[in-house]
Amino acid sequence: MSTIKISEDLRNLLYSLPEVDVESLLESYQKPIRQSIRVNTLKAREEDVLNILREKGVELEKIPWTRYGYWVINDINLSNMLEHMLGLIYIQGAVSMAPVEVLSPKPGEFILDLCAAPGSKTTQIAQALQGEGVIVANDVNVKRIRALSSNVQRCGVINCVITQADGRKFPLWAKGFFDKVLVDAPCTSLGIVSKDWGAAKNWSFRASERLSKLQLSLAISGFDCLKVGGVMIYATCTLSPQENEWVIDRLITIRPSACLKSIKLEGLKMSKGILEWQHNKFNPELEQCVRVYPYEHEAEGFFMAKIVKEGDDS
Ligand SMILES: C[S@@+](CC[C@H](N)C(=O)[O-])C[C@H]1O[C@@H](n2cnc3c(N)ncnc32)[C@H](O)[C@@H]1O
Repeated sequence: MSTIKISEDLRNLLYSLPEVDVESLLESYQKPIRQSIRVNTLKAREEDVLNILREKGVELEKIPWTRYGYWVINDINLSNMLEHMLGLIYIQGAVSMAPVEVLSPKPGEFILDLCAAPGSKTTQIAQALQGEGVIVANDVNVKRIRALSSNVQRCGVINCVITQADGRKFPLWAKGFFDKVLVDAPCTSLGIVSKDWGAAKNWSFRASERLSKLQLSLAISGFDCLKVGGVMIYATCTLSPQENEWVIDRLITIRPSACLKSIKLEGLKMSKGILEWQHNKFNPELEQCVRVYPYEHEAEGFFMAKIVKEGDDS
């Protein structure tokens, strides 16, 4: 097995994280992430899709924490299959399905997906809405919006409006409007290194710090677009506290009506949010955030925070 090269900064970061098994993490970086799919019930009945896939030799096992998610047990290229092209299935990482499960969209709700492209979570939200309610799927990047648009179409989503804007500006148009908001923020991707080794080779504290300022602005913007009583999920696929706990710590300080809630998902191994890191001491409430490490399920690493807007202070 080839040995992955990681930057000096990244090595220092990993050894600074409490309770992380660095050896297992580095080992997981060298293995491919287990393949998984979501059956898209907007297009067909779950049982029918499962039967078609099984007849074609796809071996599946239910993922416990996500309603329509399945591990693919055998080595098979799903992206060439008709069922993928027709939108009967969406190839999506098992842990990447968790933020929408926590968001728990309900038919009839108005939902903002602030950083939406290429649309795995937008299409998952649409599935939960069952055609009732509206999703506004926004992204700043035109090229990625093309992929978003194609995935929305492929999956048979009819109640999605796609916008191209800097998410930081969204409260100008939609302050206090949405029932639920997902901020799946751009990040340094330390939870998906096996898909993108560059993330580990080039990782730096400086880049992570720079990105955390954008992430904080996006989190505040998403929060300001919530109605009172609304729910926001902030998620990243990275491990750096600067892009995770620091962002949420700042958010709940700047917006006192932002209240953190606990996250429960059956079968998903989660660690609590970090309360002390380098020279930072975070609000004890940050324990309610969760971290999922890539070695726990041979899947992606993720950070998630669930925030409820309990008043209006924006
Ligand atoms: C982690 S990806 C989102 C993945 C997507 N939610 C999914 O599940 O398929 C982060 C996205 O944030 C977008 N982004 C970066 N800066 C942004 C900004 N200022 N406003 C809105 N989107 C932004 C990127 O173009 C990228 O598509």
